[in-house]
Order: sequence, then structure tokens, then C-alpha cells
Amino acid sequence: MELKQVHKLYQGKPPVHVLRGVDLAVFPGELVGIVGVSGSGKSTLLNILGLLDGPTQGRVYIQGRDSTELVGDDAAAVRSSQLGFVFQYSCLLAEFTLWENLIIPIHLAGRRPSCDELARARRLLQDLGLGDLAKRKPSEASGGERQRAALARALVGRPKALLADEPTGSLDEGNSHLLFSLLRASVEKESMGAVAATHDVELARQYCHRLLRLSGGKLTSIR
Ligand SMILES: Nc1ncnc2c1ncn2[C@@H]1O[C@H](COP(=O)(O)OP(=O)(O)O)[C@@H](O)[C@H]1O
Ligand SMILES: [Mg+2]
Repeated sequence: MELKQVHKLYQGKPPVHVLRGVDLAVFPGELVGIVGVSGSGKSTLLNILGLLDGPTQGRVYIQGRDSTELVGDDAAAVRSSQLGFVFQYSCLLAEFTLWENLIIPIHLAGRRPSCDELARARRLLQDLGLGDLAKRKPSEASGGERQRAALARALVGRPKALLADEPTGSLDEGNSHLLFSLLRASVEKESMGAVAATHDVELARQYCHRLLRLSGGKLTSIR
């Protein structure tokens, strides 16, 4: 994933110039942390990287392809085939079990899961410590377990890149550490590029390969 001289201006009264020339390249196998105070533009940056929103100016590349002009179905196709997302509240479907939540994206893509995909989903639940919870509904799982299920769901489709926006924002300290360590292990194992936004600098420092601060609309390296 790469951003080149990305600007984002939210129109309004007054307009807000959130990103002011952001350059970022994320490579396979690295977890990049983005820290910054609330309102600094972390979600804006991740939404642009994830093709959920477009830049006002600048370019966005996914897998070397200029994705800046992709809209609607084209952007959705890249999102579902190449990108994985984890959010602060990951919106698992309440009526379905954790297992079903992992498999539903495949059905939504209009396919039946292959043996390989079913085995991968089972393996991900095991690896993320949810092997015994497959039949539980989200309401029967803890916040930490739900976020790990959301991570598993994001990984089922073998995304090339993963975007995590405050993935531990609703978790206690122990679960935050567990989630970040699993995130890092997954990134290394799958050779994906990943970006995690968090306001928790110490947590990011401990688990991210590289750490950047977003401030004044610019990214600076802090490790
Ligand atoms: N859709 C929007 N329209 C107008 N302003 C927005 C919009 N989304 C975010 N902002 C503003 O942009 C700034 C950055 O927001 P955000 O990217 O959510 O920051 P963070 O995730 O770091 O808290 C904030 O001042 C916010 O109010
Ligand atoms: Mg945010």
C-alpha cells in the first residue's frame, strides 16, 4: 500500500485540512503503527488507504495499482479481494455464531466456501484462541474474544493488506496486548502489510515494526 502526497480537505464551515501531504509505503510482512491524538486524522488516513474514502489530492496505490480513481463497485472489489479491516467495534453479526461470522463474507461474495477456506477458518479460530468458541454468538463472547474473531474474519480471505483502526480501543490492557501480539504474528506469518492506528503509543511501540506519528496533517517517523 502506498500513499503519495495525499491531502484531505473536508468541506464545511470552516473546511478542515486534515492531511497535508502524506507519503507512506507499507511493505509485505510489516506492521506499521500510526499514533496521534484524537482528531489528528488517523481514521481519515486509514479510510483512504482502505479505499473507503478518496483523497482530495494525491495518489493511492494498492499492489502497485493506482486506486485513486476507483469508486463504487471497483473499489468494493479491491476491498473485498485484497484488504482486511478491523475496527474498534467490529460489528460481528449478532444473529450468527463466531464461526458463521467468519464464513459469511465468502457467501456474500457469491461462492460456497472451499475445503481449503473452511480449514483455514478453523485454523484461524484455533490460532487466535477461539477454538472452543466457534458456536457462540458474539453476545456470548467477551470484548477481547470478539475483537479476535473480527481479526480472524478479516484474515479468512487472505488479504494482501490489513487495516486496523483503534482495534484495541474498547479493550482492557491484557486483551490489548494479546490482540496486538496476535496481529503482529499474523502479519509476519501471512506476509501482509498492515497499518494499525491507535492512541496508545506504548502498545504500538511494543508490537509494531515501525511507528509513525500523525500531527499537523503530516506523518513523521518516531521509530
Ligand atoms: N466526514 C467528515 N466531515 C468533516 N470533518 C470530518 C469528517 N471526518 C472527520 N472529520 C474531522 O477530521 C478530523 C480528523 O478526524 P479523524 O480522522 O476521525 O481523526 P482520528 O481518527 O485521529 O481521531 C477531525 O477534526 C474530524 O472532526
Ligand atoms: Mg479515529
